[in-house]
Amino acid sequence: MVTTALVTGASGMLGRHTVDVLLETGVAVRAFVRPGSDVAHLRKDGIRLTFGEAGELHAIHQAVQGVDVLFHLAGYLTVSAPFGGSDDSPGDLHRYQTVNVDFTEQLLAAAYEHGLSRFIFASSNSVYARDAPVPTPETAPLEPLSAYGRSKLAAEQRVQAYQQRGLPTAIVRPAVIYGPGDRYFTPTALRLARLPILPLVNGGNTLFDMVHARDVARLSWRVACNDQAAGRIYNAGPGQPTTLRGLVDVYRDLKGHGPRIITVSLPMARRFGGLGRMLLARVAPGAEAALTPQGLALMSQDLRLDMRRAAEELDYHPRFTLEEGLRETLSAL
Ligand SMILES: NC(=O)c1ccc[n+]([C@@H]2O[C@H](COP(=O)([O-])OP(=O)(O)OC[C@H]3O[C@@H](n4cnc5c(N)ncnc54)[C@H](OP(=O)(O)O)[C@@H]3O)[C@@H](O)[C@H]2O)c1
Repeated sequence: MVTTALVTGASGMLGRHTVDVLLETGVAVRAFVRPGSDVAHLRKDGIRLTFGEAGELHAIHQAVQGVDVLFHLAGYLTVSAPFGGSDDSPGDLHRYQTVNVDFTEQLLAAAYEHGLSRFIFASSNSVYARDAPVPTPETAPLEPLSAYGRSKLAAEQRVQAYQQRGLPTAIVRPAVIYGPGDRYFTPTALRLARLPILPLVNGGNTLFDMVHARDVARLSWRVACNDQAAGRIYNAGPGQPTTLRGLVDVYRDLKGHGPRIITVSLPMARRFGGLGRMLLARVAPGAEAALTPQGLALMSQDLRLDMRRAAEELDYHPRFTLEEGLRETLSAL
């Protein structure tokens, strides 16, 4: 039985929702946060805080001591990270390694030493190969397109090595996460939604997954409580995929206005990608990465997670529809 849980990245979007889900279950929640993190909501909820950073081993061990389950959600990502990362700076590459890979290993070592009963790692759908089948099951080939995805895969390998050593672990691979507290996708999408016209490859009809942070948190809690989930990997996607066009439609329904979509063919987007990147960098910084060759490749193919494993093994079913989730997110923003 889980009595005490530690959440890393508790000041982030997924972290906040995970803390809320854990509090609802009655579990004693602790959080590992940075000295500069916004912890007002955690203090309000009476969460016990340990302050530290990736690499600070003393603080890490202090935080992990006396805990049953660790939800390792802290990570370094940017708006452009999943698109292939040709925009990644040396600083980004350094943080992918120190935060996403090394910090994971430091927490695993501490969890192993203190005999935790479960270590849950928030990975990403960015680990899958571009030619993976759609919908993509957890067993699909892994070949990340981006440096961010490679860092998540390297971290998964560390997690699996500790599983072999006897630490019960589990990996959750979310699609694009949104919800109140979103620092990346929703704010960028909102900037684009305020434009009068929006040129989109394939008319914005390419399928992709957006999952509400609260649903990912609920799935992670089920993973923590299920003995059979030790050593397993679970996709975290929504019930239904969306498209950029669908997203604009929901935005228009909620706001009463929205951009006019113009269809751009892939060859045209490749040809004018340079100009488009310059413009996008001004109106929605980070989104210009979608017009790099790797970004365009991603934008023009359907991406969808196969959610059968979580449904069959954990009886997990996402609750949020996109409309409900976006309504809540927009009002929080
Ligand atoms: N957002 C997505 O679409 C998405 C999709 C798939 C997977 N994921 C993964 O899900 C996890 C949570 O993502 P999110 O969207 O909630 O991100 P987020 O809002 O940016 O939260 C990231 C958390 O990590 C903490 N953190 C960053 N660098 C750290 C460091 N050096 N030492 C300690 N803590 C550090 C941040 O602390 P501060 O508050 O101090 O910045 C924050 O609490 C991440 O591992 C991410 O890779 C996200």
